Amino acid sequence: MRVLGIETSCDETAASVVALDGDAAPEILSNVVLSQIEEHAAFGGVVPEIAARAHVEALDGIVEAALADSSVSLDEIDAIAATAGPGLVGGLIVGLMTAKAIAAAANKPLIAINHLEGHALTARLTDGLDFPYLLLLVSGGHTQIVAVRGVGDYQRWATTIDDALGEAFDKTAKMLGLPYPGGPNVEKAAAGGDARRFAFPRPMKGSAQPDFSFSGLKTAVRQAATAIVPLSDRDVADICASFQAAVADALGDRVARALTRFRQEFPDAKQPALVVAGGVAANRTIKATLETLCADAGFAFIAPPQKLCTDNAAMIAWAGIERLRAGIAGENTADFVPRSRWPLDSISTPLVGSGRRGAKA
Ligand code: KG4
Ligand code: ZN
Repeated sequence: MRVLGIETSCDETAASVVALDGDAAPEILSNVVLSQIEEHAAFGGVVPEIAARAHVEALDGIVEAALADSSVSLDEIDAIAATAGPGLVGGLIVGLMTAKAIAAAANKPLIAINHLEGHALTARLTDGLDFPYLLLLVSGGHTQIVAVRGVGDYQRWATTIDDALGEAFDKTAKMLGLPYPGGPNVEKAAAGGDARRFAFPRPMKGSAQPDFSFSGLKTAVRQAATAIVPLSDRDVADICASFQAAVADALGDRVARALTRFRQEFPDAKQPALVVAGGVAANRTIKATLETLCADAGFAFIAPPQKLCTDNAAMIAWAGIERLRAGIAGENTADFVPRSRWPLDSISTPLVGSGRRGAKA
């Protein structure tokens, strides 16, 4: 099977060809990602209209490059898989319409993919992981813990009741005058800081409700910063380090809860594992916290390579292959309309405010 994947749900224009031959390990034949970060940096966040236009301008060339890199011709492709949601609707329209056009012109099936499913299944592409496992998705638009039970079979166990974690990093950076995107810059500043100087809250820690919350922490950071302006480099470093420590602690508490629940619900799981995805998963303090937690609980900790953790089209092509293989690609037809909101788990009701403010809300 050879599937061409297309991803345009936020600020990366991406195309990829992934192949699966029999029982052999899947192969990423090409993985082209064009980031729009520079186009949005001046605005301190993703501007939907700029993103959509940038996708229109770049996508043809990116698809061509992905096909050329893979040395697979369009004729040899079995299906086109494209992100159809959730995300910024302008970008989704560009990606899905392009995929429909290619599918129609080449007479190939089209598979509309949920972006979150792409993240959820990546660990099977990179590590051949068996179901069931736990996914922690921490990006600019999402903060979720999902029980991945099978292809198309997901249960959301936790989500944020206000800001996404990446958003909290980005807003903290902005408050402190650090450049966009905030996450990597907060991490860099934190490296030289004193994590004990500010006792920031650990939102939801110990709560019986499984969800995340970050807006209280953000407010605490603002109050601390306002109280000591003008900020020296040392102040910024200490605030970043204290913020990061609070995040790691709060996140660890929520994940520990989910690991316990996983043991109860899947006592027969062969290899219990926690998979991380999303840009925030690059954070070393967070990664180290999760790694320790998993080691203590007897879970494998799986962090796919960063290139496949952040937005890319290989994960979309792979989700297409998984759906083809499972025989559940059929519901997707040329009539599929992009969905700016598209929960992975249609049973869990959306939480008030959750994901509404993120770029991918
Ligand atoms: O998954 P991702 O690349 O895409 C979107 O959600 O669009 O995630 C981007 C988010 C941003 O909020 C960024 O600040 C955050 O991930 N991020 C980080 C780090 N690197 C990226 N957050 C904390 N620490 C990092 N090292
Ligand atoms: Zn994503």
